[in-house]
Amino acid sequence: TLCLFVSPSMEGGGQTYDHLFKLLIIGDSGVGKSSILLRFCDDEFNDKQASTIGVDFKTKFMQARGKKLKCALWDTAGQERYHSLAPMYYRGAAAAIVVYDITNRDTFQRAKQWVKELQRQGNPNIVIALAGNKSDLSSKRKVEPEDAETYSNDNGIFFMETSAKTATNVNELFVAIARKLPKNTPQQRPGQPGGIVLAQNDAASPKKGGCC
Ligand code: GTP
Ligand code: MG
Repeated sequence: TLCLFVSPSMEGGGQTYDHLFKLLIIGDSGVGKSSILLRFCDDEFNDKQASTIGVDFKTKFMQARGKKLKCALWDTAGQERYHSLAPMYYRGAAAAIVVYDITNRDTFQRAKQWVKELQRQGNPNIVIALAGNKSDLSSKRKVEPEDAETYSNDNGIFFMETSAKTATNVNELFVAIARKLPKNTPQQRPGQPGGIVLAQNDAASPKKGGCC
């Protein structure tokens, strides 16, 4: 399967990799999606992070079980007016992080709707992670981790609380996702991207087997 990305920021930058996968981050506006990616990619945090317009892209290389993964990170906009665009971004996503803000119960309810929608419309093998972000603001907590844990267990996804501000569990979240990515699935066919997409360019020769 050849996965084509139109954004110039998706180019390999000359780096080689064994596998390419697309990861989507989704959830209400202000929950910290862009901040999680900024922490993961650049190890930075911005108190005045601007709200995303449409969708942003970032790339990050990761190592998992001796393989080099190129992660194409799709940072979707949480604002209501962009919601109709979301299904366009599901296509070909191997993983999705659904984010809520632990200080805002509504964002947790909305996160559950996103999970349902991803399970209905996304790639059937998609790895879904639920992230309760802003764990540094525990004095303002409105969502108990036990609630999110129970919900996640019941729905076959995995859950972690994160803080983009303090970096707590941000790398761990991505490492956990990388570990859960399915091996190259035999049922994967051209035109039905999903799972890990083998790199078609670069020096790495595609190997059978899968990365994780
Ligand atoms: P949209 O792009 O509008 O969908 O929002 P977003 O989900 O990308 O949120 P964004 O990363 O822009 O963060 C919103 C605000 O929350 C910003 O002011 C961030 O600085 C702040 N923020 C993000 N993550 C954390 C966190 O872990 N802790 C705290 N205290 N603040 C955070
Ligand atoms: Mg954003």
